[in-house]
Amino acid sequence: MAQTWNPSSWRQKPIQQVPEYPDLAALAATEAQLATYPPLVFAGEARRLKSSLANVAEGRGFLLQGGDCAESFAEHGADTIRDFFRAFLQMAVVLTFGAQQPVVKVGRIAGQFAKPRSSNIEKQGDVELPSYRGDIINGIEFNEAARIPSPERQLDAYRQSAATLNLLRAFAMGGYANLDNVHQWMLGFVKDSPQAERYRKLADRISETMDFMKAIGITPESNPNLRETDFFTSHEALLLGYEQALTRVDSTSGDWYATSGHMIWIGDRTRQPDHAHIEYCRGIKNPLGLKCGPSLSADGLIELIDLLNPNNEAGRLTLICRFGHDKVAEHLPRLIRAVEREGRKVVWSCDPMHGNTITLNNYKTRPFERILSEVESFFQIHRAEGTHPGGIHIEMTGKDVTECTGGARALSGADLADRYHTHCDPRLNADQALELAFLLAERMKGGRDEKRMVVNG
Ligand code: TRP
Ligand code: MN
Repeated sequence: MAQTWNPSSWRQKPIQQVPEYPDLAALAATEAQLATYPPLVFAGEARRLKSSLANVAEGRGFLLQGGDCAESFAEHGADTIRDFFRAFLQMAVVLTFGAQQPVVKVGRIAGQFAKPRSSNIEKQGDVELPSYRGDIINGIEFNEAARIPSPERQLDAYRQSAATLNLLRAFAMGGYANLDNVHQWMLGFVKDSPQAERYRKLADRISETMDFMKAIGITPESNPNLRETDFFTSHEALLLGYEQALTRVDSTSGDWYATSGHMIWIGDRTRQPDHAHIEYCRGIKNPLGLKCGPSLSADGLIELIDLLNPNNEAGRLTLICRFGHDKVAEHLPRLIRAVEREGRKVVWSCDPMHGNTITLNNYKTRPFERILSEVESFFQIHRAEGTHPGGIHIEMTGKDVTECTGGARALSGADLADRYHTHCDPRLNADQALELAFLLAERMKGGRDEKRMVVNG
């Protein structure tokens, strides 16, 4: 039976992936300080995202969620944020125009700092040190001092999140995202890629439509929808002390909200039903993500849905499926059937990154064709089951990195060394992200035409 929840009730539960802070008094002092800081996001925004996701759960819309595997303190700069945002806008506009469905835009950004690790220690040669757990916890440098968890890092992560969010809000609401700028979102290095021509053609059609609308009196000045976009933030709620410190009561509803980001998700390694991460997340009202990997049974999933979304509220829960290109056909149908049988309202999203990581020339990488293949299977399976392929969850950057192999520019294993910058997992570069968006738009359009054919007999 569910016991009473409060923002610290997770502390009575077993917990995975918890860093060993040497000074617990200092940790408590930092958390107390954070608890006095202003919220990063507001309850009303989280509710707005939830209602957009409710439309997706009901088949009207698509969730685009993406960003860094792990944000880093060292790479915190306006250019990185802007380049990410414009790559993201390009994807969003390709999906909206191509698929003619509203796209719900959620970044893995402004809070994505903590990383679950498969091992507590990292070994290089004969030296063993605690694993890197993300900049909010310890340093990536391979030396003893850097790897000691330090509470102050939580304050730095909070400040970086606030500054990032501030810039994103300005971009989203202050004119940068105006559809009149659709040509300007093209990134320099994408300009001579195979995607550029496709994008330019699409942007031309949007500009033409905008000109037509202006002629009849519908302008970005008079219509905020053309000039602004809703952009939301998300991260994995892994470091629960930080999350608790930013958990606040919404004065209008009396409900608890995580104010560290609009949406938070639970990782595949921390989703034990009787453990701390599920306990924390069940009590807050934000939209939640749940990562679903091959080890999740159908009954286990229904048990988690009972805990996280007992009232079957559409938009509350997004199932982020990360099976691997060769396992998705085995695992996704059984989960879909269980959810359908039980009549649960969820958003089905595909994370084609985390099940497709391999090692090549000593680099962790992800072959682009496996990423596309998992996405294709995800769409096919949903068509076959009659359910809505509601979204995609990707690790991407606006930079011209060489971290995933393949794509239209055919990055090879030997190219990985050129610009391999990630702090954690390999990300799609802007070019590969755009290529993926075109493929998605085609698949979504295909599904729509199919439905229309059925309706028309
Ligand atoms: N406001 C709409 C939306 O967010 C249209 C829009 C404005 C848009 N700027 C955008 C769509 C940038 C995609 C990208 O969907
Ligand atoms: Mn990752």
